[in-house]
Amino acid sequence: MALLNRPDTMERINTPELAQAFIAEQIQDIKAQVGDKKVLLALSGGVDSSVVAALLIKAIGKQLVCVHVNHGLLRKGEPEQVIKVFKDEMDANLIYVDAVDRFLDKLAGVDDPEEKRHIIGEEFIDVFAEEARKLEGVEFLAQGTIWPDILESEAGIKAHHNAGGLPADIADRFELVEPVRILFKDEVRVVGKELGLPDDMVYRQPFPGPGLGVRCVGAITRDRLEAVRESDAILREEFAKNGLAGKVWQYFTVVPDFKSTGIKDGKRTFEWPCIIRAINTTDVVEVTVEHLDPALMDHLAMRITTEVEGINRVLYDFTPKPPATVEYE
Ligand code: XMP
Repeated sequence: MALLNRPDTMERINTPELAQAFIAEQIQDIKAQVGDKKVLLALSGGVDSSVVAALLIKAIGKQLVCVHVNHGLLRKGEPEQVIKVFKDEMDANLIYVDAVDRFLDKLAGVDDPEEKRHIIGEEFIDVFAEEARKLEGVEFLAQGTIWPDILESEAGIKAHHNAGGLPADIADRFELVEPVRILFKDEVRVVGKELGLPDDMVYRQPFPGPGLGVRCVGAITRDRLEAVRESDAILREEFAKNGLAGKVWQYFTVVPDFKSTGIKDGKRTFEWPCIIRAINTTDVVEVTVEHLDPALMDHLAMRITTEVEGINRVLYDFTPKPPATVEYE
């Protein structure tokens, strides 16, 4: 059976050999726990759920049922990558749920940040629970809980985000499978690499649960959300090209809901600004700003204003935390 707690003496998993040993051990434990029963997993495409999926696919193959909910607030290319990696390459049993309209309709006109977060969280649980109710013979629920989640919930810092939320008729039906619960994030990444997951999945920057929704400041509209998604894709592409992708802790774009005057092709425009944020931290409590090369800033301003519909101005946020937070909502 899987260890419930991380032993104080446990060696840090920081080499391929240690990761392979961990994988072999987990495969045995998962098989022993699950037998021939089915396991359900909400697969977001983030590091933790992706590593759990890859481990379970290795251990029990098609007995794992992955549900990927596209809530319309994912980064450009993410749903496609989840399908490619897990369905096409690993032949996983993957249910793709296109819930874009459902989420965006619920969010229409809602500008309060907490209410937006609440709606996104609730709707996610509803969609996942609906899928779970359709399935028969599933007795286990896999989760990408990691060791810091356990420590934080024990310390009362935050509710353990993976454990709660599901309605009782679903939650009571399942026994949990948490194969990476004794690992720290850097160990999850080493294990993910050994499981053959692509680097941009394994080494991805942190991404909030409400996704691009908190970066489309104010009431979300489809056109402004597209401007966030497209500008984020350009920023990520340029950071990767300039060797910053693995170096800067987190970087993204934000599009607020106000417009300003500009000029394009000799004509007046009245469009949104795009704000770039790039920060470094070790603990997320205090955050410093990454100072970008001026030539890169010029290039980003040029690309974003010419390639992204609705943007006529690019701003750089050079505020540390505190007093600002990382995200805008
Ligand atoms: P803040 O804005 O609080 O962000 O300075 C600190 C870090 O947490 C991430 N973040 C979230 N992660 N769900 C998450 O899983 C959330 O609701 C959420 N809000 C913020 C943020 O991206 C940053 O890395």
